Amino acid sequence: MAFRTIIEPFRIHSVEPLRLTTDEERRAAIREAGFNLFALRATDVLIDLLTDSGTGAMSRDQWAAIQHGDESYAGSPSWYLFLDAVRELFPFAHVIPTHQGRAAEKILFTAIAGPGQVVPNNTHFDTTRANVEFTGAEAVDLPIPEALVPSLEHPFKGNMDVAALEQLLTDRGRDAVPAVFVTVTNNSGGGQPVSLENLRAVRAVCDAFGVPLFLDACRFAENAWFIREREPGQENRPVAEIVREMASLADGMTMSAKKDPIANIGGWLAVNDDALAERCRNLLVLTEGFPTYGGLAGRDLEAIAQGLKEAVDHDYLRYRIRSTEYLGDALIRAGIPIVRPTGGHAIYLDARELLPQIPPLEYPGQVLAVALYEAGGVRGCEIGTVMFGRRPDGTEEPAALDLVRLAIPRRTYTQSHIDYVGEVCAQVAERRDELRGLRITYEPAALRHFTARFEQLNG
Ligand code: F0G
Repeated sequence: MAFRTIIEPFRIHSVEPLRLTTDEERRAAIREAGFNLFALRATDVLIDLLTDSGTGAMSRDQWAAIQHGDESYAGSPSWYLFLDAVRELFPFAHVIPTHQGRAAEKILFTAIAGPGQVVPNNTHFDTTRANVEFTGAEAVDLPIPEALVPSLEHPFKGNMDVAALEQLLTDRGRDAVPAVFVTVTNNSGGGQPVSLENLRAVRAVCDAFGVPLFLDACRFAENAWFIREREPGQENRPVAEIVREMASLADGMTMSAKKDPIANIGGWLAVNDDALAERCRNLLVLTEGFPTYGGLAGRDLEAIAQGLKEAVDHDYLRYRIRSTEYLGDALIRAGIPIVRPTGGHAIYLDARELLPQIPPLEYPGQVLAVALYEAGGVRGCEIGTVMFGRRPDGTEEPAALDLVRLAIPRRTYTQSHIDYVGEVCAQVAERRDELRGLRITYEPAALRHFTARFEQLNG
């Protein structure tokens, strides 16, 4: 029998208390934090939607796997369990474990990129961009044009602009492009999926120019679920099989196990090229550790191995994607502009559209994120001009979009938590005219969103 309500395919086994704060406490906390939500104490946050990274609830079987972890320095059985679980979905020749995704990025880009080179991506995540730029190379985003129109519905808004990729490779030449990256799902572009058809087309262009293709695969399972739901001819395929096809189209991947594998820490780099693998392993030993643990404890490797099995479960993915959409539906009903259609791991509020009185260089996304915290203790994350508006030379420009991401940790919050978030957002939207811009009073040279401080503009 089919019912309309899609339930959580689990029940709660252990609970964590949430601390309710007063309006005055939150007002004081955000001022002390310089209006930067990263500087808040997590105990001053009620519903924490800052990120879906490492914040998911592990399963009973993952906690059991933690107990099973073997901490041998070299050749631990936990390493072999991890390797088998990774290869089951991503059968690359070499798997190099790292403590999280950005460590894999740092190692790979150190090995392949440098000044004068350019790395295209559908849209770089902030750490990916920073790691490319740190080598002196240029990070270029090539999303399809539809991706830049938040209100526009498109089943695969994460797709790469294949014609633009071909043009870039023609203009710059294959030697200037050490790799092409496709991020699944496209996090900075709204958690939107990439179709198999698009991946195949990107692969064909990479083949024509002899350039390797890499996946930034953090949210591979959510991407594969969207392919199953939306791509013609894919509706009867197991998600694991779709994932294997995605992997078969690439020459390697970087991965954060803190996302779809529902672990609290971990990542890996995988490649087919033997010589590249050797260069990367040499770098791994410098900063991460021996190649059979790479910055992780044996117990972490086992939690990831178990999480990978759970990540491709259809009942879990159906619930996961529906629960994100459920929040999106509530916001649409409240008249709040969001990136459409709703993505996999997060809802993205269009702050530029909601707050037209605040110009991009007064950071409408940051203003909205601060307002959501002050109103109801909900912590989201600006993805806009604060995150992407600072050029390497220190000048500023508006980012393509000013969004606030409400990322949903996996299996962590219940439907009533999400109903509450919807109510907080609706209340803030009702008094949008009262909100004013912010000015930066301190910023570091790179990744400024983590530590910048702000003050409120009057007017
Ligand atoms: N690539 C993508 C697409 C990501 O979303 C992230 C992290 C990384 C790489 C880096 O992985 O955190 O394990 O080093 N995204 C988190 C987020 C932080 O909040 O979206 P990491």
